[in-house]
Amino acid sequence: MALENIVLIGFMGSGKSSVGRMIASKLDQRFLDTDHLIVQKSGQEISEIFKAQGESYFRDQERLTLESLQDTTRCIIATGGGIITCPENIPLLHQLGFVVWLTANEEVIFDRVSRSTKRPLLQTANPRETISNLLAQRNPLYHEAAQFTVDTSDYPHGAIAETIIAEAERYFKPLHEH
Ligand code: S3P
Repeated sequence: MALENIVLIGFMGSGKSSVGRMIASKLDQRFLDTDHLIVQKSGQEISEIFKAQGESYFRDQERLTLESLQDTTRCIIATGGGIITCPENIPLLHQLGFVVWLTANEEVIFDRVSRSTKRPLLQTANPRETISNLLAQRNPLYHEAAQFTVDTSDYPHGAIAETIIAEAERYFKPLHEH
């Protein structure tokens, strides 16, 4: 049986951090974020890591971070949007707990991410097109990895957090019956 964490996957701007923080506060559990753990460990911002060491170095750091979490339990773990692009990460995500895919439609994602310049992959001439291409590549991978999917486009994050908590309780119930 997997560890007892709730693991949030999904595209940039799908609401992983804000929904994750809400779930953590409602359950009184710790919130962890793989991007944040990488920044803490390296002392560099994500955009600096991409610029200085490149994307594949960052992907290695993501995998190492997931590996380092394999004793963690009863946490809410948000992951970077590209975590599912590395096939070795999928069993690591499942080992960590209940894997939930947060989705949002393209307009909502564009609207949410265009407020920030922190995401190196979207610093392109046509971010809208980049989002569209990345979504087409990645949606099948999120779908394959996820055990539960919630669309965050039209609901307040608090309601989404409640939905995920209810589903996670059902998922972890067999663990509590012994
Ligand atoms: C990335 C998503 C980012 C961050 C990095 C790469 C991606 O995280 O890990 O910029 O490949 O989609 P968020 O999904 O939290 O924005």
